[in-house]
Amino acid sequence: MSIEIFRSKHITSDDDAGSGLKRCLSKWDLAFLGIGAIIGTGIFVLTGVAAATQSGPAVMLSFVIAGFACAFAALSYAELSASVGGCGSAYGYSYVAFGEIFAFIIGWDLLLEYSLAVATVANGWSGYFNNALTGIGIPLPEMLTKAPKLGGLINLPATGIILILMLLLIMGVKHSAKVNNAMVFVKLLTITVFIAIAAFNVHPENWHPFMPFGWFQTLPDGKTTGVLAGASLVFFAYVGFDAVSTAGDEANNPQRDLPFGIVTSLGFCTVIYILVSGLLTGVVNYTELNVSSPVAHALNLLGYNWASALISTGVIAGLTTVMLVLYYALTRIIFAMSRDGLLSPFFSEVNPKTQTPVRVIVLCGIIMAITAGFIPLGDLAELVNIGTLAAFVLVCLGVLVLRITKPDIKRPFRSPFSPLFPVLGMLSCSALMAFLPALTWLRFVIWLVIGLIVYFSYSVQHSKLAKAD
Ligand code: ALA
Repeated sequence: MSIEIFRSKHITSDDDAGSGLKRCLSKWDLAFLGIGAIIGTGIFVLTGVAAATQSGPAVMLSFVIAGFACAFAALSYAELSASVGGCGSAYGYSYVAFGEIFAFIIGWDLLLEYSLAVATVANGWSGYFNNALTGIGIPLPEMLTKAPKLGGLINLPATGIILILMLLLIMGVKHSAKVNNAMVFVKLLTITVFIAIAAFNVHPENWHPFMPFGWFQTLPDGKTTGVLAGASLVFFAYVGFDAVSTAGDEANNPQRDLPFGIVTSLGFCTVIYILVSGLLTGVVNYTELNVSSPVAHALNLLGYNWASALISTGVIAGLTTVMLVLYYALTRIIFAMSRDGLLSPFFSEVNPKTQTPVRVIVLCGIIMAITAGFIPLGDLAELVNIGTLAAFVLVCLGVLVLRITKPDIKRPFRSPFSPLFPVLGMLSCSALMAFLPALTWLRFVIWLVIGLIVYFSYSVQHSKLAKAD
């Protein structure tokens, strides 16, 4: 057993993998998938919370710090997606670099990251959607907008949007990519409008004091504050570029295009984030930003009510693409784990007509729709962050390990300045994990323990590698 759990996979080229999924995504589709997954709640909602309660105007510094950690990780993702390949992302890379048990744990961790992100973003989406309906005079009855514990019957919009995305993903990844591209265009348009208006309304005195909460401190209630704690929170805004690496089996030319998609989407979004957060705290005092839609709120305060309505449309489109791409990534991770025998083979069947893993799409859709509709989800962004950061640390470590253990594999993309950059990636992502509250750590550890129980009671015996031995 002790040896078995460390058995590792060999690298097979993507063409040999024969997943049954359809190769149809271009490099720009991949970049747009990345932007689709990245820009959402983080910039439209959390920026305000982080500015008001953790970073002050220095929230742009929080974005820079989180952006650096992500950049190092993204370069490692780019290297492994080009050299190891497959649709399993950090799970697949860990299988090759570290062995099965680590791969399972990180795969399990990614399930938490993506499913929770979709269900929580669906709750946020529902709030914006209801506001928009109210704005045009057809509000939904309260019973249909709240989970039972909050005095309603069901959060219907949250459930509904997940089921609609489910149908879209079943129809095929190319359809999904087209819808994603259109909605990404809408959200980028609204961000451009914000930047154009805000740039002419900055009052530099709003940037003073710049760091009202300092770098880092733990409050008596266990919560954390300061620019570094802010960086750990706004890190959520960057979650999603890693989802691009789950498209390995569906990219036209994965070795060339995945690194492009990952690096382009992250680079682009980082610039947008620093601009938007800097402008937001420049036009409005940071103390006024602790609201659910800080960007629209800022425009309202400036008197641009039409622009604020436009931003709400952008947020609805933006959050939809975040859910779409993260939901897509979730299904591809489960698909990869199932194909390897670590989860039931039930999940790895591909529908020959649509060339999509329909069973896993439907099952995930139903579970997330029920969760989002009936369970009042608090702010679980930090739990998503800790899971994502753990995956990033392992991916950076994977680059270092594979450079030593498998020096000769083809690396069409190489992370520059290795080992420096991967080491910096590990250090910065570990530090961001350390700045997260204790409760988040506890929840994370509980999830991993459940994963280990699943691994030892099912996966270790059913692993395809076990059968190959
Ligand atoms: N990065 C995504 C968002 O901010 C998860 O919504």
